[in-house]
Amino acid sequence: MAPRLWTALCALTFGQAVIASPHMNVNLAARATTSLASWLATETTVAKQGILDNIGSAGEYAASSGSGIVIASPSTDNPDYYYTWTRDSALTLKCLVDLFVDGDTDVLSVIEEYINAQAYIQTVSNPSGSLSGSGLGLGEPKFNVDETAFTGSWGRPQRDGPALRATALVAFGNWLLDNGYTSLATSYIWPIVRNDLSYVAQYWNQTGYDLWEEVSGSSFFTIAVQHRALVEGSKFASAVGSSCSYCDSQAPQVLCFLQSFWTGTYMLANTNSGRTGKDSNTVLASIHTFDPAAACDDTTFQPCSPRALANHKVVTDSFRSVYTLNSGISAGAAVAVGRYPEDSYYNGNPWYLCTLAAAEQLYDALYQWNRIGSITITSVDLSFFTAIYSSAATGTYSSSSSTYSSIVSAVKTYADGYVSIVEEYAYSNGSLSEQFDKSAGTPLSARDLTWSYAALLTANNRRNSVVPPSWGETSASSVPATCSATSAVGTFSTASTTSWPSTLTGGSGTVTTTATGTGTTTTTKSTSTSTTSKTSTSCSTPTAVAVTFDLIATTTYGENIKLAGSISQLGDWDTSDAIALSASQYTSSDNLWFVDIDLPAGTTFEYKYIRVESDGTIEWESDPNRSYTVPAVCSETSVTESDTWR
Ligand SMILES: *[C@@H]1O[C@H](CO)[C@@H](O)[C@H](O)[C@H]1NC(C)=O
Ligand SMILES: *[C@@H]1O[C@H](CO)[C@@H](O)[C@H](O)[C@H]1NC(C)=O
Ligand SMILES: *[C@@H]1O[C@H](CO)[C@@H](O)[C@H](O)[C@H]1NC(C)=O
Repeated sequence: MAPRLWTALCALTFGQAVIASPHMNVNLAARATTSLASWLATETTVAKQGILDNIGSAGEYAASSGSGIVIASPSTDNPDYYYTWTRDSALTLKCLVDLFVDGDTDVLSVIEEYINAQAYIQTVSNPSGSLSGSGLGLGEPKFNVDETAFTGSWGRPQRDGPALRATALVAFGNWLLDNGYTSLATSYIWPIVRNDLSYVAQYWNQTGYDLWEEVSGSSFFTIAVQHRALVEGSKFASAVGSSCSYCDSQAPQVLCFLQSFWTGTYMLANTNSGRTGKDSNTVLASIHTFDPAAACDDTTFQPCSPRALANHKVVTDSFRSVYTLNSGISAGAAVAVGRYPEDSYYNGNPWYLCTLAAAEQLYDALYQWNRIGSITITSVDLSFFTAIYSSAATGTYSSSSSTYSSIVSAVKTYADGYVSIVEEYAYSNGSLSEQFDKSAGTPLSARDLTWSYAALLTANNRRNSVVPPSWGETSASSVPATCSATSAVGTFSTASTTSWPSTLTGGSGTVTTTATGTGTTTTTKSTSTSTTSKTSTSCSTPTAVAVTFDLIATTTYGENIKLAGSISQLGDWDTSDAIALSASQYTSSDNLWFVDIDLPAGTTFEYKYIRVESDGTIEWESDPNRSYTVPAVCSETSVTESDTWR
């Protein structure tokens, strides 16, 4: 108990703003990890309650908010955060959906209420526009808590919101599918998600405000989360028996544009900012596009990738000299982290959610190395490793080696250091505000920030190797040879609200619903009279799956594209038996070739696309062979594989 008492005294000292902290941090680094674990055990309870308190109308601090509306903070002045932001709400709900999928049924009712609220809020006309026609209203960053439009001046639009909301809803939609609630996923979730995906596909290549609502340009965070949303959104579309050709045509181009933010040593946070571009924006992008099934891919800036680790060092180092709180902390030890070093909001201070994100990226990386079974140090991320493990050298270290164990242990200690800083500067009762003072360490700005609590819960889960489902990174990480400024048009329509079944339970079953997913756009709020019921029809794995192969390939008139592969359905590599793709949806801005093929569920095979010239000459794609496994999943009867010619 001594360490906890020490912490309480320490917090008290900071509460009185008596001394600055270098000595505290030295002690902190030496503190036993059991202290952090025991703090987290109570803090996770505080954080979950902190989130629920901020969701209307049952939440203690959100009683005057609409049902399912997530307030950013209960603070109504200096600053006034008593609004609902699409971004903050979606990140919070993704966290809650992941908890629910892992068995926490306490949060189910707020998830359902959030979804109903979003179906409505999508239709509210606002200064960014409306849903009908162009869908521009989806880019509005925040609304009043009674679900009316906020009409004051603001940094708008913000194009990350629709992508993050799609990600949160797809996570829940996939749970519904996995548990037999097919028609809820199809008729209710998909039309809401489709609006958000349509927005992303149409507008990703236009500027907007960044997640900190200050810079109007192109933002790394926004582009990264848009890519993820399009990829998983397309898979979800297939799983509900629909498709998303506009996702498939745009996702590779979004990823292509994302590459341009790499400076050679870190990721530039925004274009047009007039700053260094070192910003927690990029660390947040890495954790919110983390895929537990991915390799350490640089193209998607996975947490364990050389680029994302090099960036982690550059971004966190940028705060060492700007906060008094960080002075005297050695190069390889954790520091308090803020938004970006030039920040002047509230005089520029560390934020709890940014400090937690620095920890979370490292926990994600640990998970990935462990799954892969090795760590590879390259010249790009060598300085990240040498700061925390001085004898680090480039090379690959298998998980059976002692070097691997030493590095993993150093990274774990380093990651825990960031969470310990949050522990140290949180209120002693566990409340987390937005910021803490860069000199005194005292909590600052909005109290009980919903996003701070969500950040604590996700970091804690990753620390315990509890990870979200894959979003499909492994089939969406190849970058087209040339980037193009593109756009594609989807569908914008009002999603009807639904009445949820009295309980949704895990296991098999089907739901019948009369809710319709499309209709005319209206801004009148109404509750649908649909009825839903769960019946106990079992759901079986299909024997064959309709696989759509979408390929982005720029061709000239007379050229054709075919698919050859290692199974008989693909001609056993014989090019004369290869399957022809269709160019019926090919346009100059969307170079899409596709084919639907029925394949036995569970089959694994290799394949390549071939380009057939008008004189019959064949050009093969470059190596390696592509590989694919047809899903063998309950109720998954059609899927789309999205590729880009290489
Ligand atoms: C649009 O995409 C092109 C190609 O990636 C890129 O050069 C351009 O900067 C992008 N513009 C915006 C505003 O996203
Ligand atoms: C925690 O303590 C702070 C500061 O005293 C207070 O403002 C806040 O309401 C407390 N939170 C809870 C959940 O009691
Ligand atoms: C691709 O598959 C073919 C047929 O099995 C094989 O001959 C070839 O070596 C493979 N290519 C690579 C790069 O593995």
